[in-house]
Amino acid sequence: MEQKGERKNDMDWVLSLVIITISLALPLHVSCSDVYSRSDFPEGFAFGSGTSAYQWEGAAAEDGRKPSVWDTFVHSRNLDNGDITCDGYHKYKEDVQLMVETGLDAFKFSISWSRLIPNGRGPVNPKGLQFYKNFIQELVTHGIEPHATLFHYDLPQALEDDYGGWLNRTIIEDFTAYADVCFREFGSHVKFWTTINEANIFTIGGYNDGITGPGRCSRKCSSGNSSTEPYIVGHNLLLAHASASRLYRQKYKDMQGGSVGLSLYAIGFSPSTSSKDDEMAAQRARDFDLGWMLAPLTLGDYPYVMRRSIGSRLPDFSEEESELVKGSSDFIGIIHYLAAIVTNTKPYFPGYSDYYYDTGVTSSYTCNITTSQCSVTPWALEGVLEYIKQSYGNPPVYILENGKTIKGDFQLQLKDTPRIEYLHVYMGAVLSAVRNGSDTRGYFVWSLMDVYELLGGYGKSYGLYYVNFSDAHLTRSPKLSAHWYSAFIKGDATFLGSQGISQLQSNFSSSSL
Ligand SMILES: *[C@@H]1O[C@H](CO)[C@@H](O)[C@H](O)[C@H]1NC(C)=O
Ligand SMILES: *[C@@H]1O[C@H](CO)[C@@H](O)[C@H](O)[C@H]1NC(C)=O
Ligand SMILES: *[C@@H]1O[C@H](CO)[C@@H](O)[C@H](O)[C@H]1NC(C)=O
Ligand SMILES: *[C@@H]1O[C@H](CO)[C@@H](O)[C@H](O)[C@H]1NC(C)=O
Ligand SMILES: *[C@@H]1O[C@H](CO)[C@@H](O)[C@H](O)[C@H]1NC(C)=O
Ligand SMILES: *[C@@H]1O[C@H](CO)[C@@H](O)[C@H](O)[C@H]1NC(C)=O
Repeated sequence: MEQKGERKNDMDWVLSLVIITISLALPLHVSCSDVYSRSDFPEGFAFGSGTSAYQWEGAAAEDGRKPSVWDTFVHSRNLDNGDITCDGYHKYKEDVQLMVETGLDAFKFSISWSRLIPNGRGPVNPKGLQFYKNFIQELVTHGIEPHATLFHYDLPQALEDDYGGWLNRTIIEDFTAYADVCFREFGSHVKFWTTINEANIFTIGGYNDGITGPGRCSRKCSSGNSSTEPYIVGHNLLLAHASASRLYRQKYKDMQGGSVGLSLYAIGFSPSTSSKDDEMAAQRARDFDLGWMLAPLTLGDYPYVMRRSIGSRLPDFSEEESELVKGSSDFIGIIHYLAAIVTNTKPYFPGYSDYYYDTGVTSSYTCNITTSQCSVTPWALEGVLEYIKQSYGNPPVYILENGKTIKGDFQLQLKDTPRIEYLHVYMGAVLSAVRNGSDTRGYFVWSLMDVYELLGGYGKSYGLYYVNFSDAHLTRSPKLSAHWYSAFIKGDATFLGSQGISQLQSNFSSSSL
């Protein structure tokens, strides 16, 4: 049933996930549960949703915030920007109210480093500090567990200018000092810290493809080196994460009792044929995607196939660094949207190389770039969770992003049945994995409301709530999916499976929707 996408080495569009206008037929061969309710999930399993600082806060030049790399990236290219976006900076109380109405257990958000420490290092901005204290207080007062991310694409521009940001090991020290401020100031309420958001795809987007900030690459960018920089940045990200994690354990964990994790963009890979070569190619793709970071975090070094293929361009861990990184993640955050069918490509490309060439595979993604249609492939998520369980010692996992974009007018946006169907089968896939022993502990729908999307700007919407960006008040309205998710979380036992969806639709079609 997989709808194969176009063959492409270059994943330019991977981040800018596709827009879907129609509901696709659901696959019949999924092992995923169809009829289930909240009570089928383990006790304490968290259902949440999320946003990130740049995508939701707005107030980009207010109260002492200075630009991040992302501000520079979009303004220099004249792209949509997050200067105002949802104005969460001013509307956070209203938005926490939406979370309460939805019944969220937990909320994923990120802290803007350049709002808290405008120059990246040095003095803390008291107004930035106050904003996050207020917001976090508002969440916990309403019984919503904060999951805070320290870095979500928005490095302070000052650090990029001073020494090249993530390319320079000085970043490790500055990131750790920033984490120290966050742990100290917010750690009495925040028990779940993600250091780096989708560390692998951040690196590929920013330093291999050049399509996300800081926009560096060999071929189409004004500067960069796709054959070396992704691996240097990936290395520094791991070390910065591990250093912050060690600090937490040494200084805060006893008192605060929280945990620190790293999040990764996990693609579900399957071989295009059952040939040995393609099966090995699929395994190589997994090693390059997840193993790149998960192997160091678990075993203290990069996967052997990466070492072999990348050679001296892949930095080495000293013995001390290896010890630092190994075991430094209390949980793994998973961001999942995409599946790919993988074919072996040999020989390896001599001479020029970049991340894709180094993998030695050709991936065909389950989305059609022309029509922007994506197959619904919940088994890909189930497969990712199985793989992490079996290959990396079954660490605790939080699915920190999963969701579906829908294109269309206001009415279509509000009656977002395809999104409900998508969430329903993906949550079912998570349940199957959990039933088979995966230690997955939470699921977060991306996104709570329509936000500025990092690549699609305002042309895409993943939200459970519609935001009218033309309206001065940026009015939020619940979509059908918000009602559905709310009914699910609140354990409305009458609402199961596809019959429940049509009932829900008819229940709400006569109301404000
Ligand atoms: C994508 O959609 C276009 C338009 O419907 C179609 O012509 C094309 O064959 C599709 N590509 C793939 C790989 O299915
Ligand atoms: C890293 O940054 C420091 C300043 O913090 C600078 O002295 C050094 O030359 C930089 N290293 C590289 C490789 O750019
Ligand atoms: C990238 O760096 C490598 C190793 O320093 C060098 O051999 C190569 O020429 C560089 N490529 C580009 C496009 O600058
Ligand atoms: C369930 O877990 C077992 C043990 O890890 C594994 O062998 C089996 O393939 C898993 N089943 C599915 C459907 O993934
Ligand atoms: C969005 O807001 C504008 C300005 O207030 C208003 O004219 C428009 O009708 C609103 N759109 C929707 C779909 O509510
Ligand atoms: C729809 O409304 C009926 C009547 O109020 C109620 O019994 C049912 O539970 C509702 N279904 C859903 C899915 O909300």
